[in-house]
Amino acid sequence: MSSTHKPWEHAKSSGSEGDPLAARFVASLDYDKRLYTHDIRGSKAHAAMLCKVGLITDDDLSAINAGLDAIEAEIAEQGDAWPGWKVELEDVHMCIEAALIEKAGDAGRKLHTGRSRNDQVATDLMLWVDAAEEQILDQIDTLCEAFVSLAEKDGHIVMPSYTHLQRAQPIVLGGEVMAWLASLDRAATRLNSLNVNAGNSACPLGSGAIAGSSLPLDRDFTAMELPMAGPPSENSIDATASRDAALDFCYALTMTSMWLSRWAEQWIIYATTEFGFITIADTYTTGSSMMPQKQNPDMLELIRGKTGQVYGSLVALLTMCKGLTVGYNRDLQEDKRHLFAAYDAVCDCLDMATGIVKTVTFNEDRIKQGLDRGYLDATSLAEYLVTKGVPFRTSHQVVGRLVGLCNTTGRYKLEQLTVDEMNAVCAEYRSAGAVGADVFDWLGPANVVKRYQSAGNAGVSGFEQQLAAWKERLGDQPTDGQADE
Ligand code: ARG
Repeated sequence: MSSTHKPWEHAKSSGSEGDPLAARFVASLDYDKRLYTHDIRGSKAHAAMLCKVGLITDDDLSAINAGLDAIEAEIAEQGDAWPGWKVELEDVHMCIEAALIEKAGDAGRKLHTGRSRNDQVATDLMLWVDAAEEQILDQIDTLCEAFVSLAEKDGHIVMPSYTHLQRAQPIVLGGEVMAWLASLDRAATRLNSLNVNAGNSACPLGSGAIAGSSLPLDRDFTAMELPMAGPPSENSIDATASRDAALDFCYALTMTSMWLSRWAEQWIIYATTEFGFITIADTYTTGSSMMPQKQNPDMLELIRGKTGQVYGSLVALLTMCKGLTVGYNRDLQEDKRHLFAAYDAVCDCLDMATGIVKTVTFNEDRIKQGLDRGYLDATSLAEYLVTKGVPFRTSHQVVGRLVGLCNTTGRYKLEQLTVDEMNAVCAEYRSAGAVGADVFDWLGPANVVKRYQSAGNAGVSGFEQQLAAWKERLGDQPTDGQADE
């Protein structure tokens, strides 16, 4: 036996060490190292079970636990420099096992009893996804707090809303902030629901390579040793073949990313000279190597840009799985590369978004300057006519005509028309007199945002009601002082 032989490849006369590319090609160590705490946790659960059913002794178990604890401490301290990382051992599982055997001798050589890397990696990944979900949920919460602070500070600024990126109806800034919060709320609910899906947290350990084991493994006991896991998975073939939990999580990441990207796009537009609605803090803009004046919203653009990578990860995972027979195939090793990339990108994007939201300035004066353009109050006027008994389809036509009248007579807002002018157009559709002097209470964006009364509206009442719900939900913790200023 050659000394470079992999410890699990004795049926062959040589292995991938014969070709450096093959050795690197088959290895996942550079990206699966980060599973080490989960791998150790899974190994401890497995070892405890082996001891319970009498396959290893109490002394073996103590030696295994002590060895794994020492390894965990070493890796925590040394990181990538831990000498146990040996790429020729392919992955985190074999590196840790080899280091354990060095420390614990035969006890370490018993750890893999009734286990395969196939159920081991499936378990590690399940544990990693569970922790990653918690982490993302925390970051979503932090971003929500930043949006709530912004809403508390600037939420009453009156601004336009847009459909087709054309001026639509007036809203308050808080109404729009609540929209971003609604999408984040769904992102959190989606992530939480992944754990409710029992299949996603079922414990694969004890499934072995594909068919289980002829040894008396107590899989219920193993699962109980991993409190974050559910009961044992039901079918050993499926448990080692499935990456559904990773895919579900990745989908949840893509949805989170997609909404962050839409928000980023909106604020990129708001930051243009043409809009001028916001000023992004200097920390989150960049200059140009050629144009001295530039303050580009690169961080927002990268949030938008990284979304492509996150989508790519989901498509890569789906594509990777679609041609596989129902058992472990080495293709599945690549799952982590994609899942980790998506996760890392979304973690960064969430934190970056929090930084940007916390430091943004909404330029109220600038927003105000343009507010009387674009007939933001046209729908309000149509609804006013409804309150005077005009059928909505008629009032819509009347107001359309009034907008046309403004445009052809050098006026740019409905408030510039007289009551008589309005009634003259009304009279063409019904008896005149629909419009009274009170019409002016329904015109002008500042009036309109106070008039919305439908539940969930983006004006003052809807914003205030949604904000109160958010504050209650976030436990009304002080949000970085911004709200109290
Ligand atoms: N590093 C591998 C992975 O992530 C471990 C599984 C290897 N299994 C095998 N049967 N060759 O999937």
